[in-house]
Parts: sequence; structure tokens; C-alpha cells
Amino acid sequence: MTSATWTHAWDRADGERRARDLFTGTFGAAPDGVWSAPGRVNLIGEHTDYNDGLALPIALPHRTYAAVARRTDGLVRLVSAQEPSGVREVPLAEAVPGAVRGWAAYVVGVAWALRAAGHDVGGFDVAIDSCVPFGAGLSSSAALEASVAVALDALHGLGLAGGVDDAGAATDDAGRGVLATLCVRAENEMAGAPTGGMDQAASLRARAGNALLLDCRDGSVRHVPFDLAAHGLALLVVDTRAEHSHVDGEYAQRRAACEAAARRLGVASLREVADDARGDGWALEALTADEDGVLLARRVRHVTSEIGRVTAFVEALDAGDVRAVAPLMDASHASLRDDYEVSCDELDVAVDAARAAGALGARMTGGGFGGSAIALVGVDEVEAVAEGVARAFAARGLRSPAFAVAVAGPPAG
Ligand code: GLA
Repeated sequence: MTSATWTHAWDRADGERRARDLFTGTFGAAPDGVWSAPGRVNLIGEHTDYNDGLALPIALPHRTYAAVARRTDGLVRLVSAQEPSGVREVPLAEAVPGAVRGWAAYVVGVAWALRAAGHDVGGFDVAIDSCVPFGAGLSSSAALEASVAVALDALHGLGLAGGVDDAGAATDDAGRGVLATLCVRAENEMAGAPTGGMDQAASLRARAGNALLLDCRDGSVRHVPFDLAAHGLALLVVDTRAEHSHVDGEYAQRRAACEAAARRLGVASLREVADDARGDGWALEALTADEDGVLLARRVRHVTSEIGRVTAFVEALDAGDVRAVAPLMDASHASLRDDYEVSCDELDVAVDAARAAGALGARMTGGGFGGSAIALVGVDEVEAVAEGVARAFAARGLRSPAFAVAVAGPPAG
């Protein structure tokens, strides 16, 4: 008997039924349909998206379900099983940046961004239920945005989301790229979180059984087969339950530091430094010429080295040498902890304890300052590693973590 707590993904039919029931119970009529979108874990490529870099997320089997019906009066009524505050009402005409607070900003923000892009989107009723853990760094906000985006796309015949085929692949990636950009706008401008675009791309553009190699410079993607089970391996997710928030200042400070460093170096983005044939030595030297550039140089070193690790990770997957990704995960964590300084006690304990209990490699995933870590483990070691992490948390008096096993699921649909 294990003492570890597991967060299992709902069966799709169950999730759809939950959202539908909440809708009918709240609004007294059936919805026009139910749409859903996944959370994500990023395998590697952290804090690279807003630097025009590379990232490699997978879509989780954990999804957010949105039951939606159109309205003709320009009103949005929202209810969520995760929010005890009851039904909220927001007239679309009043939905401008800064006017809507809390989780509703993500939902209304998507409608606002679609309208701002010239799409004829009206009011709607929406009921949300989700098994993506909230505040766990697994992109519950992007899952919420993407579920609403594909719902509004279908209800208004926008023709951007296309379908998802039986293999779990989206049929219109270009349209989804447009939707992802609008979801980012919703998050940046309506919700006020200055995040990059990785999470929305993962939720809308990922493919089942594959990792999504996302090039944030031009928005292009490549699907990289990612089948750990075929190699006797599994990806363990440790939700540290140390809550993080991107609306607070640290994330914005890191982003601003990268932009400041790029300005000083005279490059459009740190991607240029990562791609420079000379390596990044010249940039680090230029920055450390002034004392106040020393910290910037460490931030830059994380970003450039992390972009290199994404490339190496994908090369290992392409070569079928999955175990070779483990040291890249370890190096990513060290870089995020020491150079980028976005880890925290709980994440470091999770990573160290997972390795001590037999994980091949481990790292924090997502924005940091709490949230989740991932560990590459043998399929037969999953329970033992989870136990080891749970024990390490208990020994330090930390809140007990929650665990999940991640396989690459299908995108929003
Ligand atoms: C959060 C943001 C993403 C990305 C990651 C760090 O998840 O939403 O855009 O910047 O942090 O890689």
C-alpha cells in the first residue's frame, strides 16, 4: 500500500458528463456542446519561449472541460466546479483589459481577443470542470483558454481549430497557431500574466504519442515521437503543491532581465546568442564587463544553454536513445536553480529525492517558484520513486505532494 497521493486524469466521457451536468444544473438547459483541452508538462526548454527559443512540451491526459451554449445578448455567464463563488456574469462590451478579475479573465479574455482580431463572437454560457491540478505549474490556465477557444471556434464557425483525428493529431495546425496566439493575448492582456506562448501551443497543437518541438522564433512545430513505455520508462510528475503564480513579479522580472540583456548585446532576442557560431562566451564577457551585468550574464547562460539542451534532447529521441535525455534533465534543473534562480525548496527536494530513489534524471518543469517537477523513471520504479519523494517531503515537514504519470495526450478538441 502506497502512502503517495495520485492525481488521475478523468476518462474523457466522464469529464464531458461532469461539465454537461454542471451546465444543465446551473443554467437549466442543455449546452450546445462540450469541448476540452489539456494541461501540459514541458520536457525541457524552460524560460526559453519568450526568448524566441525552443521548448518541448507534451499535452497531459489531464484536461479542462467546457460545456458551452451561445447567447444572443452579448452576456457571458460562467460557472466552475473549482470555484465555489457561484455564477459570474460579464457583459462582453465591458470586457476590457483590467476590468475582469480572477479565472473569469481567462475565459472572457479569449472572447475579447477573438473579437479584437475581427471575429464575430457573441455572448455565451459556460460551465467548467477540470482535472488539471490548479496552481501546479501544469498550465491549468492555458487549458482553460484553449477549451474556450475551440468551443467558440466551433459555435461561431470560425474555421480555425479544425478537428482532431483518431490518432490524436490536429487537422489544421495553422489555424490552431492563430488560436494559440489569441489565447496568449488573453493571458497577457486580460489576465495580466506576462507569459510566453509555450503552454497555449502545447494545449492546442500537441499530438498524442509525441512531444511538441516548438520554435518560438517563427511559431513552427515538429512532432517528435515520445513513447517512453516502449523503452521500459515512465514520466513521473510531482506536484509539490507549493503554489506559484505568474501574475506576481518574479516571472516578469526574469523576462525583463532577458530583454535588457538582449538590448545590451544588440540582438533581437537571446535566441541569436544561442545560435551564434562563436558560442555564448562573447555575450557573457560583454555583460560581465560591468558589475551590474553579472546577474544578467547568469540569466543569459541559462537561456542559451537550455536552448542547446532542447536540441540535444530531441537528437537523443530521434536516435532512439531515450536514456540519454536523463543528464540533460539534471543539467536543466541545475541551470534553473543556480543561474536562473526560479526553483524553490520543494522543487529541489522533489528532484533530489526522486534521483536518490532511482530516477534516471529529474528537473522542475514550468515557470518555477513552486509547481511541479518531472522524473524519468523505469516503469517498475514509479511507485518506489513516488514513495521516496513523499517520504522526503514528510521528513522535512513539507505539505505532501501529489503524483501523476504523464503520457503524451491529444490536443484541444
Ligand atoms: C510558464 C509560462 C510559459 C513559459 C514557462 C517557463 O509556464 O506560462 O510561457 O515561459 O513558464 O518555461
